[in-house]
Parts: sequence; structure tokens; C-alpha cells
Amino acid sequence: MHEAVRPGAQSPQQQAAGRDAGGLLQLSVVVPTFNERDNVTKLYRKLETALSGIAWEVVFVDDNSPDGTWQVVRELSHQDARVRCIRRIGRRGLSGACIEGILASSAPYAAVMDADLQHDEAQLPKMLALLDSGEAELVVGSRYIEGGSADSFDRQRAGASALATEVAKRTLGVSVADPMSGFFMIRRDRFEELAPQLSTQGFKILLDIVATAHGKLRTVEVPYSFGTRLHGESKLDSMVALDFLGLVLAKLTNDTISLRFLLFAMVGGSGLVVHLTTLFIALEMFKVPFAEAQAAGAFVAMTTNFILNNFLTYRDQRLKGFAILRGLIAFYLVCSVGLFANVGVAFSVYDQEPIWWLAGAAGALMGVVWNYAMSGLFVWRKR
Ligand code: GDD
Ligand code: MN
Repeated sequence: MHEAVRPGAQSPQQQAAGRDAGGLLQLSVVVPTFNERDNVTKLYRKLETALSGIAWEVVFVDDNSPDGTWQVVRELSHQDARVRCIRRIGRRGLSGACIEGILASSAPYAAVMDADLQHDEAQLPKMLALLDSGEAELVVGSRYIEGGSADSFDRQRAGASALATEVAKRTLGVSVADPMSGFFMIRRDRFEELAPQLSTQGFKILLDIVATAHGKLRTVEVPYSFGTRLHGESKLDSMVALDFLGLVLAKLTNDTISLRFLLFAMVGGSGLVVHLTTLFIALEMFKVPFAEAQAAGAFVAMTTNFILNNFLTYRDQRLKGFAILRGLIAFYLVCSVGLFANVGVAFSVYDQEPIWWLAGAAGALMGVVWNYAMSGLFVWRKR
């Protein structure tokens, strides 16, 4: 006769497979990775120790890292079914990776943490207990409450983090002490409700969740010490500041103004300066006839606009190699049609109301909206 299995308890086989007696998972740990090949195995072993007795899985979401992180994860998953790997091709972004990982998991609770061992996996059982008891719907690993710390930060990074935290709290009315944390655990059903409104761009997924929930998520913070990165380097660069501002802007305007559109319009404005400068040089220095000089100005401005947009506005979908040429040609076409739309609208406004600046502005607005919409469809297509 074999021993009866207590309901909710795990048989050794189930524990090995990360399931409880009902075959169900309790916790999915989602780990975004980019060039973390030397860290993932270490993290997996640490999770194994920290989560013993819990039915867990870990979902690594890798953006096709050049260092082959996903291959290391695949090998791990062949030895342990609790390890899963999502390999994304042609996409980049921490927030998007986390969202995809959580949505791909099936446990009632999902944790997000870095692969580089800067987050403290030993806090996970405590965080899970807070969710499981119903005390919280979101648990934040916090550096900025009693008992937490971020001593591994240099002065510059500490200052930037403090500033961003302050801005987020004031502008978005967020009351969490550490909304920039990349370490948290959430009820999946609550996350699922918010997911359609979350931005896939940028780094600040927790801030996005908290701001989008408008205070309706019962939140508890647990302190932890932000450690030093084990191997490899941080992917947080100065562009992250831009992403942060974009998120604040989008949340403040109820998602009507996106940072992408604002950047696109700003690049368009720079194109005007480029256009006029080229026109001036062609006319004055090279004595080119006006029509040709004007065409040259438009051509140069479209080219610089394309380069800037590829570098800034669409940096998460940046075209590379041969795709640059294809994209550039598509961009010329889009902008040429945009010019017709611009002139057409300006004409008809002027016809109704002969105010030159009003007609001009209406035409320009039409042009930028057209170029933006069409560029998103034909130049920087979402793959
Ligand atoms: N899939 C994917 N795609 N993963 C990424 C990407 C990406 O484009 N960029 C970064 N990651 C992964 C890294 O591999 C790492 O596991 C994790 O996301 C965090 O990236 P780091 O580069 O280590 O960021 P950090 O340590 O400088 O910043 C962390 O701490 C901040 C708090 O100060 C992050 O957790 C931030 O979200 C957090 O705000
Ligand atoms: Mn890190």
C-alpha cells in the first residue's frame, strides 16, 4: 500500500515538475534577459533553493541575445521542465518582455526580477505569502523603505533614480516608495486586466502598472538590498530617461499623446531647419535654380528625418542592414504623398478662410499626422 498524498502537498515527481498535487503552478518567475548567458544558470540554482516547497516555474524572455543566452536557457529547460524560454526575434525592450512573459505564464501569481542577481530571490516566499493571504494584490521589492538599500549605486545613478522617483510621485500621484523597482510580484488576474493599457516600450513596467491602476491595487512593499551585478553590463543608458518621460507624458494625457508622436514631430521640425539650410546653400553658394534647390532641400531633409527617426523615435525597432535602404525608400514615398496631403489641406482651408498661417499650420499638421501614421505602417512596421 502506498502513502496517501495530502491535498496540496507535492509528490517528489510533482515537485520536480514544479506542480502541486492538483498539477497546478503557484508562482511564475518572469526574467527578462539580454546578454546574460553567464548569469542565468546561477539565478536558476538560487531560485531552486529559495523556492523549495513551492510549485514554481521560471520563464526567461530573451530578445535573441547575441551572446546566446537563450541557448543556455534551452539547455536548462531540457534538464528541468520548470524552466521555460521565450525567444523573441526582431524586438527589444524590458517592459515588453516582462508583459509577454507574464501573459505566457499560467500560475495565479507572477514575479518579475532581473537575471543579474541584483534582486534578492530570498524575498520571493514572503512576497508570495502576502499575495496568497489576500493581504496584497501587488508586492513591490523596495529599496527605499526601512530595511532596504541601493548601496551598489554610484552617485550619478542614485541621483537619477531619486529624481525619477520624485517626478513620478508628483506628476502621477503614485504613492509607492520605489515605483522604479524592477522587482515585484502581482496577481495574474489583476495584471491581465491592466495589460492592454501598458506600454511595451521602456524600462518602467512597475511604474506603468501602478499608474495605470490608479490606486486600485492593494500594494505592500517589502524591503531588499539592491545588489551588484554578477556578470555582464547594465542595459540602462541615457535613452532610458527619454522612455521615462514618454511614460509620464502618456499617463498624464490619458494615452492621447505618445512620446513617439512627439519625437516624430520634433524630428519633423528639425527637418524644416535642414531644408531651409540646404535651400540657402544651394541657392547662394552653388547658384542652383530655385526649383532644383527646393527639391534638394526636401530630399536632404527627408533623409536626415529618416536617420533621426530610425535612431530616436523608433529605436526599439531600429532598421539595420539592407532594411535601412528599403525603409528609406518607403519613407521617401510616404513623405511625398504626405506633401500632397499637406498642400491639399492648406489649399482648402485657405479657400474657406484666407488666413495664411492658419492654412499653413493646418497643412503642416495634416502632413505630420499622415507621415506618422504611414511610417508606422510601411517603414517601421511592427513585426
Ligand atoms: N528581454 C529583454 N530585452 N531583457 C532586457 C532588455 C531588453 O531589451 N534590456 C534589459 N533586459 C534585462 C537584463 O538582461 C536584466 O536581466 C534586466 O532586464 C534588467 O536590466 P539591467 O540592464 O540589469 O538594468 P539595471 O540593473 O541597470 O536596472 C534595474 O534596476 C532598476 C532599478 O534601479 C532594472 O530592474 C530596472 O527595471 C530598475 O528600474
Ligand atoms: Mn541589473
